[in-house]
Amino acid sequence: MGTTTKVAVEVTVNGQRRSLEVEPRALLVHVVREDLGLTGTHVGCDTGNCGACTLHLDGESVKSCTVLAVQADGAQVTTIEGLGREGDLHPLQEAFWAKHGLQCGYCTPGMIMAAADLLERNPDPTEDEIRTGLEGNLCRCTGYHNIVAAVQEAAATRNGATA
Ligand code: FES
Ligand code: FES
Repeated sequence: MGTTTKVAVEVTVNGQRRSLEVEPRALLVHVVREDLGLTGTHVGCDTGNCGACTLHLDGESVKSCTVLAVQADGAQVTTIEGLGREGDLHPLQEAFWAKHGLQCGYCTPGMIMAAADLLERNPDPTEDEIRTGLEGNLCRCTGYHNIVAAVQEAAATRNGATA
């Protein structure tokens, strides 16, 4: 019947500094969804397999069900809500829309966050590199073809914009 001592955590989430009190065992994905109300980050498996919970921690994509919230202390967290905004979508969000890269949409936020990290590291990936880069993200609907096409389109848009 012990009480759990909460731990103070400071994170910058989508550009905003947030102070939280979290249980030591709380997973980052649950804190993001339940304490911060950012439900664009999904939970598909809770065991590191599906990638639905992917977000960026200090600029790199991570499966947030594999990270304790206390491990994010002092870090920058970006979720799908912070990637673009209505009327000013990220090129990947535009491309997933244009190329029909989603059906039910459950995998989509995680897929886009993983793809955004991929394009930061490799701005002009081949089809194989996209498939390999996204292999930690599962989609039960699309067969992946349109997801790959969307990432290729977003890469072309970004490269056009920076050429
Ligand atoms: S919910 Fe994190 S990998 Fe599936
Ligand atoms: S669009 Fe349904 S799981 Fe990917």
